[in-house]
Amino acid sequence: MRDRITLHDSIGAMEADFTGMTFTTEAEVEEFYDEVDRRMEATGKRWYFLVIYTDCVIVPEVWDRFAARGKITNIKYGLGTVRVGTSAGTREAIRQRAQREMFRANIYDTRDQAILALGEMRKRRETLGGAAAAGSGETQTILSVEEIHLNFGGVKAITNVGFAVNRGEISSIIGPNGAGKSSMLNVISGFYRPSRGRIYYEGKDRTHLAAHDVARLGFARTFQNIALFKGMTTLDNIMTGRSLKIKGNFLTDALYWGFAQKEETAQRERVERIIDFLEIQAVRKTPVGRLPYGLQKRVELARALAMEPKVLLLDEPMAGMNVEEKEDMVRFILDVNDQWGTTIILIEHDMGVVMDISDFVVVMDHGGKIAEGTPGEVKSDPVVIRAYLGAH
Ligand SMILES: Nc1ncnc2c1ncn2[C@@H]1O[C@H](COP(=O)(O)OP(=O)(O)OP(=O)(O)O)[C@@H](O)[C@H]1O
Ligand SMILES: [Mg+2]
Repeated sequence: MRDRITLHDSIGAMEADFTGMTFTTEAEVEEFYDEVDRRMEATGKRWYFLVIYTDCVIVPEVWDRFAARGKITNIKYGLGTVRVGTSAGTREAIRQRAQREMFRANIYDTRDQAILALGEMRKRRETLGGAAAAGSGETQTILSVEEIHLNFGGVKAITNVGFAVNRGEISSIIGPNGAGKSSMLNVISGFYRPSRGRIYYEGKDRTHLAAHDVARLGFARTFQNIALFKGMTTLDNIMTGRSLKIKGNFLTDALYWGFAQKEETAQRERVERIIDFLEIQAVRKTPVGRLPYGLQKRVELARALAMEPKVLLLDEPMAGMNVEEKEDMVRFILDVNDQWGTTIILIEHDMGVVMDISDFVVVMDHGGKIAEGTPGEVKSDPVVIRAYLGAH
């Protein structure tokens, strides 16, 4: 087993070589992944996974176990996976599972192609991620809100809510209608000023910063009700997300030094990469108002990504979508988190989605926090169950 695992330090990749191997019993699967997990754990950091499946046979009876262990290892130690040499059967199994569990299959014909793709993944994480993210392997608080209160006249929208968000994780805020979720996101984005409480980012107090300064720090958001310029094209809407970056250096410095043209091209390239990433090339020039709802949501995500956020705030990004649109959106959210290391705070009503993709869940009800923890902890919390049953 030991020889099957190689750590390529220079490209940050762990290569698992299954060439010619046959997995016929669950014990063999466990043995292999135990070894992988042991090796990963010992390094104390996260790796990209390069998996070679040439002439590898995984009998159907153990496939589920194989995939389940792979998923756990990936969540704990992975930065992304590329696969090579899959047989038709394995390829189909991976594709199907990818579709169901919403990750990218990333299957390549040759090892060279896979390594190239892996390089692209790394580049994306480095250039757009900002947050060094999961790289360190240890959890670290990036944002914490403490004892937040928010009142609208007589309405107490938030009462004494606090929680911490770990760097590189997906944290979700859930709760019945009117619980105060959007209000909380608005407080975090700096759009609302809390009447009491503190907000710390990277250990620094940013309670009193205005929304545009919060954005400059690296916060971007999407809205519960789409907020795009309906008459403008997809491309132009996404470019508005760059304005923050452009104002800071492009117009003042670059113009002065005569680099304007080059800078403009660089800005465009960034945007084009995001367009590719979110697979909206076909509607680049379409006025956003003419796009179906699901695509508009995706353009809004694109605009937020154009700001190169370190923390991405998503207020019900999947509301009103059909099943396919939802699956796409989940996949993109996971990919943004996975490939760019972006910390994500998500509000979502679809419990299936929340429990599947969140590292951490905060439950609000009537303006207060009633629970927090891992999806597993929250799901089985009687207080949460009661709040949800009471709400219907
Ligand atoms: N701008 C505002 N002015 C007055 N009251 C507000 C304002 N925004 C929110 N509220 C009130 O604050 C409370 C919390 O609303 P919020 O929108 O944060 O809930 P939510 O959890 O996002 O609900 P939903 O799931 O319906 O989106 C509600 O009672 C709401 O009416
Ligand atoms: Mg809301």
